[in-house]
Amino acid sequence: MRHDHVISAKGLSRGDIEAVLDRAAEIDADPGAFGDRLAGRLLGLCFFEPSTRTKMSFDTAAKRLGGDTIDMGSVESSSVKKGESLADTVRVIEGYADALVLRHPSEGAAKLASEFVDVPVINAGDGAGQHPTQTLLDLYTMRESSGLDDITVGIMGDLKYGRTVHSLAAALTNFDVQQHFISPESLRLPTNVRYDLHEAGANVREHRDLVDVLPALDVLYVTRIQRERFPDENEYRKVAGEYRIDAEMLEAAKDDLTVMHPLPRVDEIAPDVDDTDYAHYFEQAHNGVPVRMALLDSML
Ligand code: NCD
Repeated sequence: MRHDHVISAKGLSRGDIEAVLDRAAEIDADPGAFGDRLAGRLLGLCFFEPSTRTKMSFDTAAKRLGGDTIDMGSVESSSVKKGESLADTVRVIEGYADALVLRHPSEGAAKLASEFVDVPVINAGDGAGQHPTQTLLDLYTMRESSGLDDITVGIMGDLKYGRTVHSLAAALTNFDVQQHFISPESLRLPTNVRYDLHEAGANVREHRDLVDVLPALDVLYVTRIQRERFPDENEYRKVAGEYRIDAEMLEAAKDDLTVMHPLPRVDEIAPDVDDTDYAHYFEQAHNGVPVRMALLDSML
């Protein structure tokens, strides 16, 4: 498989997904065997928004494959601060790197950037849009813990602004998954995402309360309320802290429930869940490395 750009999870077929996950599993089993796959290749990291996991795991992945990275650095320290456009920035960096990883606060930024450059662009999050590589590592984690077919998945929290949610929901339509969405009324899935799920024939339900559906779930994917995307801080305060799970609540869940979170968490998952067998979110974050190695290997 060869990807030109990775912009949205909507374009990923079951075959595309399984090819990356299978390769990630091979890498996980024997990381040393892939140590020179990217020798001499450079990945450009262009992050216009904060990142810990995504940026560091792409950096790790490129280096573990024998390649290297160049980093635009923070917006504050780059020429973006002087008013340079996104188009100009990526046109310059494509001259230095073999592929670009781009995170940007505007929805559609990765698509736009891909129209200005010839090297592959990987969307590492575009505003409230998409985050397809997070989805690949989410699916990898899910496949390892619960399998990907014949499962019931709850996705809870900020379904409106959460780009990891939009990507994951789209990708799950490739599998035999019943999807339950749990959120306050004001943070329900955007109409376009709901429309796409409907078009894909997805099996979807929406709920206000987790208790209604918790006992049926094989996977619970918890997300942070995306404070930085609220136009009005008061609206954020109205919903902050409302959707929080702790170990006691999870007593109503199946014994083998998998709790996931793309991280960072604020207070949606109480620390007492960390010590239970439900908690898979740190392992999920670690899976970012083999999965991004597999993706880079297939692209470059
Ligand atoms: C997510 C993101 O940036 O969308 N973080 C990540 O990449 N793991 C989730 C979030 O910020 O809430």
